[in-house]
Amino acid sequence: MIVERMRVHREMLGAAEAARWPWTVPCVAELFGSGVAFSAPVTFLVGENGSGKSTLAEALAEAFGLDSYGGRAGSRYASHRERSVLGEYLRLEYGPHGRRMANGPREARRGFFLRAESAMQMMEEKQGSRGYWSERTDEMSHGEGFLTVFESMFREPGLYVLDEPEAALSFTSTLRLVGLLDELARTGAQVVCATHSPILAALPGAAVLEIGDHGIRPTTWQDLAIVDHWRRYLERPDAYLRHIVG
Ligand SMILES: Nc1ncnc2c1ncn2[C@@H]1O[C@H](COP(=O)(O)OP(=O)(O)O)[C@@H](O)[C@H]1O
Ligand SMILES: [Mg+2]
Repeated sequence: MIVERMRVHREMLGAAEAARWPWTVPCVAELFGSGVAFSAPVTFLVGENGSGKSTLAEALAEAFGLDSYGGRAGSRYASHRERSVLGEYLRLEYGPHGRRMANGPREARRGFFLRAESAMQMMEEKQGSRGYWSERTDEMSHGEGFLTVFESMFREPGLYVLDEPEAALSFTSTLRLVGLLDELARTGAQVVCATHSPILAALPGAAVLEIGDHGIRPTTWQDLAIVDHWRRYLERPDAYLRHIVG
């Protein structure tokens, strides 16, 4: 494992500060004390909109030294990046490989951050840059472009923080992404991925953390609320839709 745990020392925060965002988000408050442990090479963060998945993902990316705007590790920060408040307080505990990267120069870090809010701009800006992909993703469909980006960027053992990477992908392309994540995991990389996709979260051997009002809860794919909802919806859409339409 590259990162074994993430936590925040509460003593670093003043009382007034601790009463403000992001500390008011339940999953963020769980980082106090012993924090959150990563137990598998691939961890999915699953939860409702607004539960705090992106806040966690951005902070982890920032704390590891990935460009928090989105992009490769070891590259310079984009000038227009927004810093993550949480990221400045987040402390990471590393496994041996992670420690070597963290203690080495910034260029020694490996990994990639897909920031949900700026994924499209990142794809437009990085195409053709050194260390990125050379395919003309601007001449591809949204989904084809992202799949090309993932296929060329997911190749070294490092930390991959992905925020809803399925957003543009079809069912079949999402399955391809499952294969890419599996390959990363097998070659010594670590993936932390926020997702709404029951296809992604079913990756065998992955850890699943459910994020919500309760904070952060380790669970299984079978027990995820979204899996239950999808199953029932596909079985009988009208059971949901009669409350929504007409
Ligand atoms: N910069 C910010 N300032 C204040 N509140 C924010 C900011 N960014 C997000 N939030 C709030 O934090 C909560 C978690 O947001 P987010 O991590 O984006 O959720 P998710 O990714 O799970 O949908 C939400 O209630 C959101 O409105
Ligand atoms: Mg989000």
